[in-house]
Amino acid sequence: MRKKIIAGNWKMNKTPSEAKALVAEMIDKVANAACDVVVCPTAICIPGVLDAVQGSNIKVGAQNVHFKESGAYTGELAGNMLKEIGVDYVIIGHSERRQYFGETDETVNLRTKAAIAAGVTPIVCVGESLLEREQGITAETVCRQTKVAFLEISADDAKNVVIAYEPVWAIGTGKTATADQADEVCGIIRDTIKDLYGAEVADAIRIQYGGSMNAANAEELLAKPNIDGGLIGGASLKAEDFSVIVAAAK
Ligand code: PGA
Repeated sequence: MRKKIIAGNWKMNKTPSEAKALVAEMIDKVANAACDVVVCPTAICIPGVLDAVQGSNIKVGAQNVHFKESGAYTGELAGNMLKEIGVDYVIIGHSERRQYFGETDETVNLRTKAAIAAGVTPIVCVGESLLEREQGITAETVCRQTKVAFLEISADDAKNVVIAYEPVWAIGTGKTATADQADEVCGIIRDTIKDLYGAEVADAIRIQYGGSMNAANAEELLAKPNIDGGLIGGASLKAEDFSVIVAAAK
């Protein structure tokens, strides 16, 4: 049985004081969660959020990590920096990073390896664009993204990586994939992992759905056999909505 994982991707929202207040509001509401609970604030909010969640079941994630350990990479963050302050997860290859910041399948692979080396669990995002879905190449797209993301990663390490299937057309649009559509593509991703690593890793790896998941649709999505959690954007900025999604992840 895979333990479900609900992660909030706060994106570029909340100042440090607002971030602390938001997570403080969440602590009691998610205290009895049956799943892993993660919040991913902006980098500058991470120290305050880490302080606020001490003693609770909420883990903290970053939204990006660089692939080098240190050096002349202005504006970037290294895995050992995240690890040292107590960050447990990092989102890698979110479609917004791919779309606006030149992230490619190759840099996703480099960042994923760097996170693993630093002891931070990657949440690797894959997903097709609207055009790719209309062209009938959803499976090919997520298969390619998954294969390249996992290049040179051992089976032991791969097992602990979290994958987030996020169809780009569903992110922030209010258009959720139907539960069947989401489950189908999560199944395709799991089959890709099976081709790469065999059944044991494919059975162990957790695959989230993300894209307009909210308090009203979470239960149906999370009931699907191949959906092991959610990566939540908009709805993770409201403590009440986020806690309803967490409660749906049994
Ligand atoms: P959304 O974002 O829930 O606002 O659609 C999801 C994501 O981008 O991770």
